[in-house]
Amino acid sequence: MRVAIVGATGAVGTIMRRLARERFGQAELVAFASERSAGRELEDGLVCQPINEETAHGFDLALFSAGATTSREWAQTFADGGALVVDNSSAFRMDADVPLVVSEVNPEAMDDAPRGIVANPNCTTMVAMLPTKALHDLYGMTAMVATSFQAAGGAGQKGIDELAEQVGPVGADVQQLVGDGAAAAAKATPSVHAATLAFNVVPMLGALGDNGYTDEEMKLQNESRKILGLPDLAVTPTCVRVPVMVGHSIAVRATYEREPDLEEALAALAGFPNLVLDDVPTPLEWAGRNETVVGRVRKDLADPRSLSFFVVGDNLLKGAALNTVQIAEVAVERGLVGARV
Ligand code: A2P
Repeated sequence: MRVAIVGATGAVGTIMRRLARERFGQAELVAFASERSAGRELEDGLVCQPINEETAHGFDLALFSAGATTSREWAQTFADGGALVVDNSSAFRMDADVPLVVSEVNPEAMDDAPRGIVANPNCTTMVAMLPTKALHDLYGMTAMVATSFQAAGGAGQKGIDELAEQVGPVGADVQQLVGDGAAAAAKATPSVHAATLAFNVVPMLGALGDNGYTDEEMKLQNESRKILGLPDLAVTPTCVRVPVMVGHSIAVRATYEREPDLEEALAALAGFPNLVLDDVPTPLEWAGRNETVVGRVRKDLADPRSLSFFVVGDNLLKGAALNTVQIAEVAVERGLVGARV
């Protein structure tokens, strides 16, 4: 098998290379990045290639995480050249002829990929999907209020770097943090995040639309509906950036057609693949782990048909690189790879 990793130098691409090596041991991996990186040797020995009409041909699989612009420009060329493309960008997620897949939730959707492209969901939506699917199958979900606590790493390596650079200067004077937060915040000049992120919480993530919701929040609605096959699901999203390096958390209140039974719900969550129950799931403690973790599961105080829970997942792993590679693995199992040439 020949496997292309597009965006190989990035935060997600770096993990995709490791996972592809672990899971496709015998495959030939080829790293692609921008023209700037052409010829650069990576720590695993791969040498970055530039993308062009010639280099994009002859792959069985192409795993993309180089941003939507690069995907729009090159994903179809890789697919037409024989590869099944698994794309981690937002470029094709809502296209009717591109399945949007969480490997444990709707793997069957990838059987209908007429363009040879399968999309990987947004990292926040992804993490929310495992417990919501487990409970939807039992009780029929009608509505979801979802408030995210998203890590800096959701904005790629540059998001991590910006938070890391702020921690020292912004946190240097504890009295100032307590008594004059605006002065502490002014010590940093944010460019990736919407405001100084260190020692702070930033309730603006992505581009604000005319309806008052950001594009990140609209993804949570639109992608959840598509993945779960619930076009009328009522979603109330709020996306918030928090000073965490890696690991997205989402507080979910989900409403069902049938009244949930707490013990039964807990058993379903514990039994769902790659989902773990924990009393106090935190992103720091789950950074670097493949599993998604859920806890604080409780019945709503006012509505017997609603449950609340708190779910955490590594946004670079399950939220991005791991699901991309899992889709590729399932595609191989389903005979979808190599069949396109
Ligand atoms: P490069 O390192 O050469 O800029 P992140 O999500 O961490 O910001 O990473 C983005 C990834 O996408 C990097 O590997 C980056 O490569 C790659 N990339 C950015 N622009 C392009 C492009 N025009 N063509 C191919 N790869 C690109």
